[in-house]
Amino acid sequence: MQMSFESVFLKAKQGEELSKEDIVCLLSADEHEQKALFELADEMRYKNHGDVVHLRGIIEFSNYCKRDCHYCGLRRSNDKIERYRMEIDELIEAAAGVKKMGFRTVVLQSGEDMWYSAERLSKVISAIKRDGNTAVTLSIGERTEGEYRLLKKSGADRFLLKHETSDGELFKRLRPGTDLKTRLECLKTLKKLGYQIGSGNIIGLPGQTLGSIAEDILIFKKLNADMIGIGPFIPHPNTPLKYSNRGSLELTLKTLAVTRLVLPKANLPATTALATLHPAGYELALSCGANVIMPNLTPMKFKSRYQIYPKKAGSDLEALKLTEKILNIINSMGRKAA
Ligand code: 5AD
Ligand code: SF4
Repeated sequence: MQMSFESVFLKAKQGEELSKEDIVCLLSADEHEQKALFELADEMRYKNHGDVVHLRGIIEFSNYCKRDCHYCGLRRSNDKIERYRMEIDELIEAAAGVKKMGFRTVVLQSGEDMWYSAERLSKVISAIKRDGNTAVTLSIGERTEGEYRLLKKSGADRFLLKHETSDGELFKRLRPGTDLKTRLECLKTLKKLGYQIGSGNIIGLPGQTLGSIAEDILIFKKLNADMIGIGPFIPHPNTPLKYSNRGSLELTLKTLAVTRLVLPKANLPATTALATLHPAGYELALSCGANVIMPNLTPMKFKSRYQIYPKKAGSDLEALKLTEKILNIINSMGRKAA
């Protein structure tokens, strides 16, 4: 049966559970319908989160990665990238700087870099947690349950591990040597260990369908993800996907909006990838359901080398300047940074 946008929209508005077909229908919204969808998502964001936009400071501490994902500039086969790895003390110092700026959450992100063993990371986490009022989020990829446990014991609060795509075949093809099942197992393990978990996907991967994006959203729900990062695909010149098209702005915003409707309580960042795709990316996302921004506060000398995709938004700006710019965006929209 062909569903009409109106009937599914009404269902969403009344807070009824949406099926995969319903979600595909919403994701297919035309320009006119899309406007209503964005407004409803914005209303839902306001009802559940008010006007607060949470700021979380990211430090990208190593661009080494043992994986070879076809879409990512950090992939191990990219020999054109200048690799770096922050020293433990250097990282602790950078985190202290982020706290000094007033951030209450520090996100530690890297490629899958095994030099940073759980023991080494534990040292960093304990140092950051010492003051007792900073949350630590890790985004370091797949590890063993034992490592995740040690990191939790050292004080880590949250863990970001995007499932990237719900299409198992596409996942395997684009992330050689890994599979979706293992990734979802990692997320379940993290949850079991008491982490708040974050997932997310990439919009516009070659071969992706609206059906698989709908499945992504149902996976977010099933995982009961606390945080969900939704960003467009941006081709990187030194990867096998260099000639593929970038993800669409509209589809990324529609996915964000529908995710807000399906998971009213989740924290949804306006992603750097979206801000890279479009100059008003942050504003647009904040108007379609987003309630978080994660400024990249990596020390200037490393920042330009963390090239997941080219021309990453904010990589030319020093931490204070970037934070100021983001605060201006938030304030100009009548929202409040926290
Ligand atoms: N375009 C957009 N997002 C990307 N990521 C990796 N490569 C790209 C790209 N080319 C995202 C993935 C990953 C995070 C580190 O960056 O979702 O989880
Ligand atoms: Fe490594 Fe993550 Fe990039 Fe894959 S997406 S190559 S795991 S940094």
